[in-house]
Amino acid sequence: MAKKNVKRPREVKKPPVRIMVNGAWHEFERGRDLEPETTLSFLLREKLGYTGLKVSCDEGACGACTVLLDGRAVLSCMKLAVQADGHEILTIEGLPEDDPVIRAFADQCEPGYGTALQCGFCTPGFVMTAKGLLNENPKPTLAEIKEGLSGNICRCGCYAGIARAVQHASEDTVPEGEKK
Ligand code: FES
Ligand code: FES
Repeated sequence: MAKKNVKRPREVKKPPVRIMVNGAWHEFERGRDLEPETTLSFLLREKLGYTGLKVSCDEGACGACTVLLDGRAVLSCMKLAVQADGHEILTIEGLPEDDPVIRAFADQCEPGYGTALQCGFCTPGFVMTAKGLLNENPKPTLAEIKEGLSGNICRCGCYAGIARAVQHASEDTVPEGEKK
């Protein structure tokens, strides 16, 4: 009996994942540059070299890996890279030197009690969380700042200085609607 020519369904190649990082679009081929389970933190650090974000706990408990996704703070260790497809990511490397939060953290660095950073390991995460907070609420109260930063851990215990830095940054932050 003649063999029937069975037509296999053609494999449809999925389009590459496109992510804007710090103002530049990047394309990632599925199966070559990333797998379905690749985390956003891995992609940013290991594929693109944005090592400002830190992967400390890798389970959503410390905030060290925080970046902005479309202006909102997210834990990049808890996001899949494919979830960022078509979206904008901002890492600490994408902030200008005169960013109010960067400036406030730098100013709040007198030694001893009051400093916003000692070892600095947690700092990028706090800075990006603060950016996300100020994007949503440009003039937060101290209580709102503490609440907003509560997902970030600082092993050096600089919490008071960090909160003060964010307060100062908020004084220098012009709300979106008031920008000239
Ligand atoms: S490394 Fe992502 S929350 Fe700790
Ligand atoms: S400054 Fe060292 S962990 Fe925060």
